Amino acid sequence: MKRMTAFRAAIEAAPIVPVLTIHDVAHAAPLAEALAKGGLTAVEVTLRTPAALEAIRIMSEAQKDLLVGAGTIISEGDVDAALKAGSDFLVTPGTSPLLLDALSSHDGVILPGVATASEAMARFDEGYGVMKFFPAEAAGGAKFLKSLAGPLPHMDFMPTGGITPENARDYLSLPNVIAVGGSWLATKDEIARGDWAAITEKAKDAVKIGRGG
Ligand code: 3PG
Repeated sequence: MKRMTAFRAAIEAAPIVPVLTIHDVAHAAPLAEALAKGGLTAVEVTLRTPAALEAIRIMSEAQKDLLVGAGTIISEGDVDAALKAGSDFLVTPGTSPLLLDALSSHDGVILPGVATASEAMARFDEGYGVMKFFPAEAAGGAKFLKSLAGPLPHMDFMPTGGITPENARDYLSLPNVIAVGGSWLATKDEIARGDWAAITEKAKDAVKIGRGG
């Protein structure tokens, strides 16, 4: 719980979390620096590439104040590997019974993926107070989360999937959204080109959006 409080505090300052897919470990340190320089406080590295786990290690080492989480956690093996790599938090796109079992033996910051009221209620009963709403735009967008806030005001969400600088405000204005996540902050091409300046600028713009600007 203490750790979730620290996570909430970190993202309150900058409630936009870049969802990163890193193909080359050489990109990890400059990417982390570019995002932190822009004012962001947390990043999610997807476990979709062979470089991901080493990238998490490098980013955590390079930017001590940046929370580095692991995303696309879909198996027990992912849970173990992500924690071993030093991930500050874990994010899953959804949950299977086997994955829930693996997650239940860890008391760190975990945001399980949900897309329905029933899933959210089940995860809340299991002790998860903050969930990833995924795939946000395809599953009903900000309107869906606004509707949930009536009957389920005690649950918080970090929506990802289809979030853009244009629609981020719609989500962030909701009382049950603690942050939004998205890949637009550092695209595959920008990372491949090493365009760190462009990424820092987008991070700065995101921080402004997060502050209601
Ligand atoms: C994901 O897990 O892929 C995230 O939800 C990012 O989605 P996006 O690319 O639509 O931002």
